[in-house]
Amino acid sequence: MKKWIRNGTIVTASDTYQADVLIDGEKVVAIGTDLQATDAEVIDATGYYVLPGGIDPHTHLDMPFGGTVTSDNFFTGTKAAAFGGTTSIIDFCLTSKGESLHSAIATWHEKARGKAVIDYGFHLMVSDANDHVLEELESVVNNEGITSLKVFMAYKNVLMADDETLFKTLIRARELGALVQVHAENGDVIDYLTRKALAQGNTDPIYHAYTRPPEAEGEATGRAIALTALADAQLYVVHVSCADAVRRIAEAREKGWNVYGETCPQYLVLDITALEKPDFQGAKYVWSPPLREKWNQDVLWSALKNGILQTVGSDHCAFNFSGQKELGRGDFTKIPNGGPIIEDRMTILFSEGVRKGKISLNQFVDITSTKVAKLFGMFPQKGTIAVGSDADIVLFDPTAERTISVETHHMNVDYNPFEGMQVCGDVISVLSRGSFVVRDKQFVGHAGAGRFVKRSTFARP
Ligand code: URP
Ligand code: ZN
Ligand code: ZN
Ligand code: ZN
Repeated sequence: MKKWIRNGTIVTASDTYQADVLIDGEKVVAIGTDLQATDAEVIDATGYYVLPGGIDPHTHLDMPFGGTVTSDNFFTGTKAAAFGGTTSIIDFCLTSKGESLHSAIATWHEKARGKAVIDYGFHLMVSDANDHVLEELESVVNNEGITSLKVFMAYKNVLMADDETLFKTLIRARELGALVQVHAENGDVIDYLTRKALAQGNTDPIYHAYTRPPEAEGEATGRAIALTALADAQLYVVHVSCADAVRRIAEAREKGWNVYGETCPQYLVLDITALEKPDFQGAKYVWSPPLREKWNQDVLWSALKNGILQTVGSDHCAFNFSGQKELGRGDFTKIPNGGPIIEDRMTILFSEGVRKGKISLNQFVDITSTKVAKLFGMFPQKGTIAVGSDADIVLFDPTAERTISVETHHMNVDYNPFEGMQVCGDVISVLSRGSFVVRDKQFVGHAGAGRFVKRSTFARP
């Protein structure tokens, strides 16, 4: 049966207007004010925004990390994402040295299969740019539909790659049309500062932040940009947290280089003082890069407003406080890095960004959906409401007030870093390819309904 969304206000990255949407099967088939449909189920959207489903470009589901495994898998994580208005995610497929890329990808497909309730794609980590890997990348990009490659410049002796690996990856990405992503922090400097802190008996969570200073992020961001320019490639800096990194990205973009940046809700509304909470509660806010001094938030918001940063990803990487974060009592380096953010990404950006006048309503859609689809090769299948696009649609009540809490969230984790925060705006219903996943705030989706999205290569502007 067709679905007819009536009386809502459609919001895209460019327009805000009153019109109805007609869905047939998985696709939007008509938009207008005088639609005729005899055999359609009517969905009343009076008072709601009708938004393209959010696309989260940065998640870690079912990922082994820090001596444990993230608490959200592809079922619980995508379900929570849907409750937050997200209808597609791009998750990071890890690799290890010596392992074939195709075997790593098969492992990640296995994690998602039968579990995801919304659509998903993968980024592929490059840990070792040997000849075999560089060769294999061609089929990864062209046949597997995995068109973004991630290089870690931090987590020494775990995920970190050296500059040669990054540079070779950039050169190969230029040939293949892949977008290279970097976790930009200087891993050697951090490793040294960390060992020094522990030797001095500084073991509390706050030392996670003190040993990963903003200069280490700025330096690595600048280095990745320089190598990108040298390779004439394209770069996307994930989880930008501070002014130092923003400045390097702004300078590169002024030169016309293909450099893009993402920040995350946590950096926009939380600050370094959270890591000082007593009774080891600061561990709940341990992720990398760390939270920064509060003044950086204004720099990040204006970078979003001015297009220096293009997207907001969640970097969702959930660990329970009990039994997981607690692994680091007495040694902050053993606190698994990451936070549960997937569900609140859209609402925080709307409430703190749009309602407080920091970004426009259309920018909100661009940053949380459209730009992500364009940069990562999913547009116009995803990222907008248009005839022929997937019917990934969110009915959003812009006036509803609520309080974020672990008591009401859907993530499989025992705390919420935004606990007690009052937000304006609420997700009412969510459709993924024409089927309800959330209806009137109730979950009606199905494990395994989400499909893998093969993405196009990077379109150089
Ligand atoms: O602390 C974080 N961000 N954990 C997830 C892995 C990463 O660096 O993105
Ligand atoms: Zn192979
Ligand atoms: Zn990272
Ligand atoms: Zn991440």
